[in-house]
Amino acid sequence: MKTPQEIGLPELLDLADNGKFKQMTIDGKKQLVFVNVSDISGWKAIAIIDEMELTGRIEEIMTPIFITCFIMLTLILASIFLLTKKYVIEPVSGLTEGVMALANGDLEYRVAIGKNNEFGILAAAFNDMASKLKANFKEIRQQNQMILWNISKQKEIEKQIARLDQLNIIGEMAAGIAHEVRNPMTTVRGFLQMLSKKEYHSPHSHYYSLMIEELDRANEIITEFLSLAKNKAVNLRYLNLNHIINAIVPLIQADATVSNKVITLELSEIPDLLIDEKEIRQIILNMVRNGLEAMQEKGEIKVRTYCEANQVVMEIADQGPGIKAEMLKNIGIPFQTTKDSGTGLGLAVCYSIAARHNAKISVSTGVTGTQFFVKFEMDQDS
Ligand SMILES: Nc1ncnc2c1ncn2[C@@H]1O[C@H](COP(=O)(O)OP(=O)(O)OP(=O)(O)O)[C@@H](O)[C@H]1O
Ligand SMILES: [Mg+2]
Repeated sequence: MKTPQEIGLPELLDLADNGKFKQMTIDGKKQLVFVNVSDISGWKAIAIIDEMELTGRIEEIMTPIFITCFIMLTLILASIFLLTKKYVIEPVSGLTEGVMALANGDLEYRVAIGKNNEFGILAAAFNDMASKLKANFKEIRQQNQMILWNISKQKEIEKQIARLDQLNIIGEMAAGIAHEVRNPMTTVRGFLQMLSKKEYHSPHSHYYSLMIEELDRANEIITEFLSLAKNKAVNLRYLNLNHIINAIVPLIQADATVSNKVITLELSEIPDLLIDEKEIRQIILNMVRNGLEAMQEKGEIKVRTYCEANQVVMEIADQGPGIKAEMLKNIGIPFQTTKDSGTGLGLAVCYSIAARHNAKISVSTGVTGTQFFVKFEMDQDS
């Protein structure tokens, strides 16, 4: 490598092309040499710049420019990110959350509407869609419930028809044979009564009483069978249920007192109904007796009457252990009994009487007691 002394100024001038930078090492330092020859005078202007110094200068100028550019770029990117987050990512994720919530069945979920731009319009449309979905869903659910209710109502009606058909068949059969059986029974009862009064039969009088009681029981059963017939004659009159209850309950109260149980009445003001007194007495008797038979000592039976939705309700509630599930399934069907001496006709008769009065019986039962409700349609005029 040549030093400036070695190459001399004229040489240096020769090495550099006119108008171009030439990199040279002068004094062991990298230098940039620029020669410009004047076309007019032929003079040469020579510029020698230390390359390191030039690079330093350039760095001095460029570093703040780079830093400024970097900061500006960062600021621009950050602004773009923040704006995108606020105006695009947040509304989109809000909508996504809404869609997920809807998909998971949360029809109450609504998204924030935010700015009045496309996302705001989309959010409003989403909320509108969610409201419509909720309304439609509610309607579908109501329709489903209605269908289920109709099905169970239909089943209940079918069950009632089947039960009444059964009762009617038994009632008609009973009517067919009752006449034939009752006549000889009346004759036998008459002779037994006559014989029991004879002096020489007095040592056996209790046998006669027993035979007469058994005949009476058989006669009662025939009467109950006859009450099951659909077309049994009824003697309908406008009467007040409360009067019938007030008249019959003292009679049963005596039975209740013997077994240390009570019957209480809670009778509200109710309109007169077109009813057969004897038959309604039968319902009260059968239901109250069942209650008494079910309860332990100190148990209470409450007989209530009240009006409810165009119906007069008679409620007979006891504090017994409730009706057994098996029995409840077949309630009102003849010969269903859990009692040794029961015929299983009591409730069947009640259902049959209720049907003749266009009344409905329902039951609610649990371990703390049973309530029977007999619901009579209120007369339009009352
Ligand atoms: N209040 C009640 N609490 C608990 N079980 C009851 C009640 N009422 C009815 N039952 C049940 O229903 C069955 C049927 O009653 P139903 O009155 O038809 O016949 P029964 O009482 O057995 O005989 P009866 O013909 O003498 O009345 C009863 O054997 C009993 O198991
Ligand atoms: Mg009974």
